[in-house]
Amino acid sequence: MLNDSRREYFAIRFVIILLSAIGPLCTAYTATLLRRVFVSTRGPSLEVIAQAAWENAHWSSLSPFQWYCVAEAAFYLFFLWYRTHLQREALHPPLRSKADRQALFAKVVSEMHDPEKFLSGWFRGAKVEDIGREDLKGFAAWAFFEGRTTEEDAEELEEITVKMEGLIGRKFKAGRGTARGLRLTVDPIEMSTRCLLWYTIIMLVDTVAHIRMLRYGMKYYSTADSTLKVFPPRPLAEITATAASPAENISYWLRPHTSKTRLPVVFLHGIGVGLHPHIEFLHELDEGLNAKSGADDKVGILTIEVLQISSRLTHSIPTREEFLEQMTQILDSTPGYERFVLCSHSYGSVFTTYLLTHDALAARVAGTLLLDPVTIMLHMPDVAYNFTVREPRHANEWELWYFASKDPGVSHTLGRHFFWSQNVLWRERIMELVGQGSRVTVSLASRDLIVDTQAVGAYLARGEVPDPVIVEGKGERQRHMELGTHEAEQKGVDGKGEVEVEGWKKKAFTGKGLEVLWWDGFDHAQVFDDRATRAKLVDVLVEYSRDR
Ligand SMILES: *[C@@H]1O[C@H](CO)[C@@H](O)[C@H](O)[C@H]1NC(C)=O
Ligand SMILES: *[C@@H]1O[C@H](CO)[C@@H](O)[C@H](O)[C@H]1NC(C)=O
Repeated sequence: MLNDSRREYFAIRFVIILLSAIGPLCTAYTATLLRRVFVSTRGPSLEVIAQAAWENAHWSSLSPFQWYCVAEAAFYLFFLWYRTHLQREALHPPLRSKADRQALFAKVVSEMHDPEKFLSGWFRGAKVEDIGREDLKGFAAWAFFEGRTTEEDAEELEEITVKMEGLIGRKFKAGRGTARGLRLTVDPIEMSTRCLLWYTIIMLVDTVAHIRMLRYGMKYYSTADSTLKVFPPRPLAEITATAASPAENISYWLRPHTSKTRLPVVFLHGIGVGLHPHIEFLHELDEGLNAKSGADDKVGILTIEVLQISSRLTHSIPTREEFLEQMTQILDSTPGYERFVLCSHSYGSVFTTYLLTHDALAARVAGTLLLDPVTIMLHMPDVAYNFTVREPRHANEWELWYFASKDPGVSHTLGRHFFWSQNVLWRERIMELVGQGSRVTVSLASRDLIVDTQAVGAYLARGEVPDPVIVEGKGERQRHMELGTHEAEQKGVDGKGEVEVEGWKKKAFTGKGLEVLWWDGFDHAQVFDDRATRAKLVDVLVEYSRDR
């Protein structure tokens, strides 16, 4: 993520304006070119005019730049169509039973630390006074029925409304108010158009990433989607693939596993341009695990590619069931992966949640490192709000808004394939796995622009429902690590009175149970930006790979 300097702010605004303007400008310019062709052409019927226009000398006199504009214009028009095409309805998971629904609602209520903040966030920052009873029911119909309520559910919606009124201690106004609920998978998807120039850049980045992965000794396992049915094209993926992936829709990279004593690693990336930003980390992980070991003691690294969230145009993302089935196929056909260590970044925590909530697969996970996860406390509105509706103001928010939230693949994934109740990872489940001997580390950045990491950290570390008004000490905004200093819970004092210095932020990594790594002064994903912090993450995985 960008930092918030003036230079970075103006740079990101400029790039976004440029990339957004290319399509419309080229279309306007192409229209003037066409006009020139047509105006000078006369004929009795449209067909004859078109014929004449095609043969008109103007076409052959177009310069390469003019041809480029024509191509951008055609792509822009395609995109306008594509954007409407993607609005088709989501295929929601099966409706849950009434008992399940009530249990889910009770769970949400039990983990809701601040009902007003909960409601206001889910209603796009509106005041609770502006939410009408009908608005609340509409929201509940999405949250618990995925928008599929019938007349018969009126009573249950009324019950939910009354319970919410009890929580906030007053009645919602009758009928509708002015607040609009955030209903991810039924609201229209908002996305911005992309231009050919952008996809050319992606193609270059993808090619470079592919070459670097090959150079670092990773082998590529392709699918039809990952090589052919994807835009921009990936000729290298097709040519250099070691073999076809055993799974229909999941392509991956593998550093084969040979160790008999240590466990291999699975890595799941997040939203962005694919694996490119993580290659150095993966290489350092490989070094950390394998630099000193012989050929028969190498720890494997398997990293899947999710092109739907990597600035590409392709098939829609696999559903939870498809993912679990296909991941099982991959793990079963890869030697050494009976048990493994899991590491995921950001959106990768969605797939991690799928694995950790599936009993058979969860039993194979010896340790999990979640970097900037978005699925913990997902019942709170922060992630959905900050990712999809927040008006960007700072450089990092503009970056997230244009390159992630408004990307066609990403917005379609979130708008039609993101079912919050499937994706939420409750602390209860983490503790259950820890009770069964699994180890979990959650790495959080203090300035995370999407997740309320303060609340997530407190929730995980203390096991209590987090207090939203924890006061932060006036620490320096410097990027320094808080890992490795032993300090018990203590009380500090600043000018305004007593401030809690939370011990959980300072605990050293021990490799036992559930732990939190806190990065002071870091934003989402910035933990990958320098070598020293990456080394700490490698340490965690090296420890988990030892499988105590
Ligand atoms: C999986 O791949 C097959 C073959 O390419 C395709 O027909 C199908 O739509 C894909 N499914 C998903 C969820 O992408
Ligand atoms: C959004 O992110 C900010 C941090 O940038 C956080 O403080 C806030 O709680 C998040 N949620 C909402 C709904 O704004």
